[in-house]
Amino acid sequence: MTPAITRFLDFLNHAPTPFQVNKLLGKRLEELGFKKLESTQVKQAQFPGKYYVQHGQRVLLAWQTVKDAQAPIHFTAAHNDSPALKIRPAGARIQNSYLQLGTEIYGGLIISSWFDRPLSIAGRVVWQSKGKMHFGLIDFARPIGILPRLPIHLAREVNDRQSFQKQSELFPIIGQINGKTDPTKAWHKILLNQINRQYPKAKADKIVSYDLMFYPCTPATITGSEEEFVVAPRLDNQASCYAAIEALSKNPLGHHNVVLITDHEECGSQSAYGAASNFLKQNLQALWGENLPRVLAKSFLISCDAAHGVHPNYLGKYEPSHLTYLNQGPVIKTNFNQRYTSNDLSAAIFTALAQQAKVPVQNFVTHGDISCGSTIGPTLAAQLGVSAVDVGIASWAMHSSTETMGIRDVEQLMKVLSIYAQKPLPEIK
Ligand code: CO
Repeated sequence: MTPAITRFLDFLNHAPTPFQVNKLLGKRLEELGFKKLESTQVKQAQFPGKYYVQHGQRVLLAWQTVKDAQAPIHFTAAHNDSPALKIRPAGARIQNSYLQLGTEIYGGLIISSWFDRPLSIAGRVVWQSKGKMHFGLIDFARPIGILPRLPIHLAREVNDRQSFQKQSELFPIIGQINGKTDPTKAWHKILLNQINRQYPKAKADKIVSYDLMFYPCTPATITGSEEEFVVAPRLDNQASCYAAIEALSKNPLGHHNVVLITDHEECGSQSAYGAASNFLKQNLQALWGENLPRVLAKSFLISCDAAHGVHPNYLGKYEPSHLTYLNQGPVIKTNFNQRYTSNDLSAAIFTALAQQAKVPVQNFVTHGDISCGSTIGPTLAAQLGVSAVDVGIASWAMHSSTETMGIRDVEQLMKVLSIYAQKPLPEIK
């Protein structure tokens, strides 16, 4: 395993929610020499310079500029959220002495994959201490819950069923307590203990609100007889987030780099922190001012998200001339109805970058009878009016609680993005 992959696995294991993704990426940017700015300071950023801003602890914008403000921008974008079971605000209940937390499905998750595995909880909490409110990220970082299935003897149909009662079946169990206890008090006590463990000076005495989710405790694991595959939660799309930031390790020549990491892709990107937000445009305007339209006219966007690698047991689900394989290089995703941004010219530019990086590329279009997924590429390209390409890493079981990717692909995407971040765009005349 290369040091980059070791670091990648470590990143996956410490990034259970978009909040932690943002925090870790911010830390990594600082190691790479980027300076953190508050949104109100963006206008004062200098050219050349390396800076980043975060908004709501959910979205991150990093830029690495050259002296010539009029130079083109190389944009890279990825989303940091993954499908999850989010805990309802008043979610606690006690049923037959079991303490349970009611959840809402976030994004399009594969429900069955969340059963019978140790679950932990992470996210952000607002608490009160001596009448004052504070907030912070928490991560139990150990198994704390379980969503057990029925035994097959009580559910003979279990191997035939695909559907679930979302209202009644998605209550993970987090303990066994006296049935006369108030469930909310019991749950809040667990939370307060965790806050005070993580923040010894907090002295939290009351829970006000939270944005918390369950996550599978499965650690990122290498598998395959030749260690070809990585199995881990949230590979969609933490693999792209990681690659996009690592690519900024060297300085660009003759262009600016801008990396955007957004939240809320899995529910449509329409939020203050999603790709449809004004956050990007406002910051670009603050930085480039009246030059922005001229700069955007010659800029380019690579939108990175996971892709579907062919599953050998289900060949009928894939377009046979556009099969993509794990470990065979980044995938260019095409959909003529603009679910993906790739077009003839932008695909050619990405292919030329991959050639420079000595990395193969693959082409994906969805099966003609299956509706196509989408990503943040089209939303961002429409906002900015820039030429764009949607690419991704081939994966199995997208949106399962654990997904699989080819271990070489993470590095291959990183290599292409590094060329893109350092060199001018390949010319097509
Ligand atoms: Co995705």
